[in-house]
Amino acid sequence: MKVLVIGGGGREHALCWKLAQSESVSEVVCAPGNPGIAKVARCVDIAADDIGGLIDLAQAEQPRLVVIGPEAPLVLGLADRLRAHNIAVFGPSQAAAELEGSKSFSKTLMDEAKVPTAKFEIHTDADEAEQCIRAWGAPIVVKASGLAAGKGVIVAHDVQEAVDAARDMLSGNSFGDAGSQVVIEECLIGEEASCLFIVSGDTILPLASSQDHKALLDGDQGPNTGGMGAYSPAPCVTEDVANNVMEQVAKPIIAALKARGIPFIGTLYAGIMITEQGIKTLEFNVRFGDPECQPLMSRLTSDLGEVLLAAAESRLDDVTLSWDERVALCVVVASNGYPAAFEKGQTIAGLDDVERAGTVVFHAGTAEQHGNIINTGGRVLGVTALGNSVKEAQTTVYDALKALDWLGGFYRKDIGYRAISK
Ligand code: AMP
Ligand code: GLY
Repeated sequence: MKVLVIGGGGREHALCWKLAQSESVSEVVCAPGNPGIAKVARCVDIAADDIGGLIDLAQAEQPRLVVIGPEAPLVLGLADRLRAHNIAVFGPSQAAAELEGSKSFSKTLMDEAKVPTAKFEIHTDADEAEQCIRAWGAPIVVKASGLAAGKGVIVAHDVQEAVDAARDMLSGNSFGDAGSQVVIEECLIGEEASCLFIVSGDTILPLASSQDHKALLDGDQGPNTGGMGAYSPAPCVTEDVANNVMEQVAKPIIAALKARGIPFIGTLYAGIMITEQGIKTLEFNVRFGDPECQPLMSRLTSDLGEVLLAAAESRLDDVTLSWDERVALCVVVASNGYPAAFEKGQTIAGLDDVERAGTVVFHAGTAEQHGNIINTGGRVLGVTALGNSVKEAQTTVYDALKALDWLGGFYRKDIGYRAISK
């Protein structure tokens, strides 16, 4: 079958790469794609949020299945529009995507469904937000309710920092409309993990566990980013934890959506914190994690095309997933300056040597210019390897990265450290 993938980041490169290996898939088309994706798919230069352009593309290409990678087109209702044209889609409706698109909706639904999560208040008025922050004290978490590419969350260690963050968000300065509502949350302490599920109606199929590294700097210091590296499986997700996430988080939230008349087809991503009081849900996303998708696809041995088509056609109950027993680990290489401003257009060399050293280089923020690969985004590459242990996969990636020839990039040197220290 022909599959159309929407998006052009590292996650979509990993999805296209796996789909291209699937026996069920004869052709992968990707919009807009990137130079890495172009090695495994035919790229069409239509942006992932150009809903009209994507509908025209899908009608012209007539794919058997459309897979929507990023949250933006989901929140804009691309899945609904495609389904209205009788095209099979892997990705939730606009209504279901509110689970990610609005943290205030998501927290309210968690409360309703009794999904364990941090204590919270939702505010639109800066003085009331300040009152809440002063009453609760620090540490405290302030979140822009809308989409902010992983950067709209401030874990504040003093009250003034939290007050300033809330006022800044509510004034529309940093996040525009996405900050017009803020969620103030109790600060949780524990180890984080990413628990992803392929969902179709009442069928909820867990993917292998993974762990992301959201902070910019080694030792989980510095501001939050979209994710600086990930690996799978995550040893902190024991069988017990996995069962609890299924029973206390995934099942009740999907049931609560259904009770509101909102069926879910796509990936449910529960970001969880394993605390001394048990698991707590940090957030929901409605798509594969980026970079978690890169190690997950590196380990998946099932036919991805068949799995996603089955979900799109509401016959997921027949499907089981199989995984490579080995560990996969992905280190993100970002542009110097990310997550703030950075210089674009620098030439990146040595990529073939990095791959020859036993890795797969997934492209995220890259473009091709006069035959060279250049950086165009904050997160640029996801260098991924398999190994018999986290340490082994980590060593392969970091050794391979010595061949990367790009002075304008940087990466964390400790991806996987929590698992290695266990
Ligand atoms: P979110 O986008 O809501 O998952 O938040 C991004 C990151 O901020 C999470 O991965 C955590 O590292 C951190 N975070 C979010 N909420 C909390 C919380 N209530 N307590 C502690 N850390 C949090
Ligand atoms: N890696 C975090 C996310 O995809 O939201």
